[in-house]
Amino acid sequence: MKGIVLAGGLGSRLRPLTNVTNKHLLPIFNKPMIYYSIEKLVQAGVEDVMIVTGGTSAGDFMRLLGNGSAFGLKSLYYAYQEGEGGIAHALSLTEHFASGGRIAVILGDNVIEDNIKQFSDRFQKQKRGARILLKEVDDAHRFGVAEIQNKKIVRIVEKPKKPKSKLAVTGLYFYDSDVFDIVKTLKPSARGELEITDVNNEYLKRGSLEYDILNGLWTDAGTFESLLRANRYMHATAGRHHGQKGR
Ligand code: DAU
Repeated sequence: MKGIVLAGGLGSRLRPLTNVTNKHLLPIFNKPMIYYSIEKLVQAGVEDVMIVTGGTSAGDFMRLLGNGSAFGLKSLYYAYQEGEGGIAHALSLTEHFASGGRIAVILGDNVIEDNIKQFSDRFQKQKRGARILLKEVDDAHRFGVAEIQNKKIVRIVEKPKKPKSKLAVTGLYFYDSDVFDIVKTLKPSARGELEITDVNNEYLKRGSLEYDILNGLWTDAGTFESLLRANRYMHATAGRHHGQKGR
């Protein structure tokens, strides 16, 4: 399975921090943000990664990450997204790289404590379709929110004003090769983007969307509040993993 890190977008919610650099190069505790998502893909068993980025600092990703060997990767590819067409648009740029295989996709601003190998293994056992990871949060209105009945997802709504559950759709997705044909059918949303939630809802319609619930800490890092939370979480996590007190 190949891996994809989506690190495009303009990071406008973090200005002025993102005036002269890309959001995913900002620090979270002791590492640049993008390290966390690459490490997660490696944990899932991925050896070949493509990073989709954009903006004026795209070259800095190559300076920072080189050929990915420091992460144990066999190969590291880069794609350039013009503008901010949305997560599903960024994903569409990786079709050639994916070359008809299954993919693990992670948003470059997500930090996850849980070991994701278990979810990747479950996805490998799935005959087809997609697998997403959910996490209970208190501010569900900021995310895609999954509504569950009888242990099945019945609907995902992007940033609902009145969320029907506390289950946020996290930025880690597993897809079969149908994903690229699905993206081609999408229309831009009200915010002018191709939405990953529309992709997931299409899999739901086809009856092939599975999910797991994440344990441990999870947050995005795209706002000042969540960036600060990500720093706190990763500081605590690093402490725990070294058997120290994480504060
Ligand atoms: O963090 C999880 C959430 O991410 C999900 O719950 C939502 O369903 C999903 O839409 C997304 O929500 P956000 O509005 O927080 O996404 P944001 O625009 O902040 O983009 C998240 C990452 O996706 C960003 O760090 C880089 C990548 N991205 C985003 C856009 C808009 C791209 O690569 N290209 C893009 O054009």
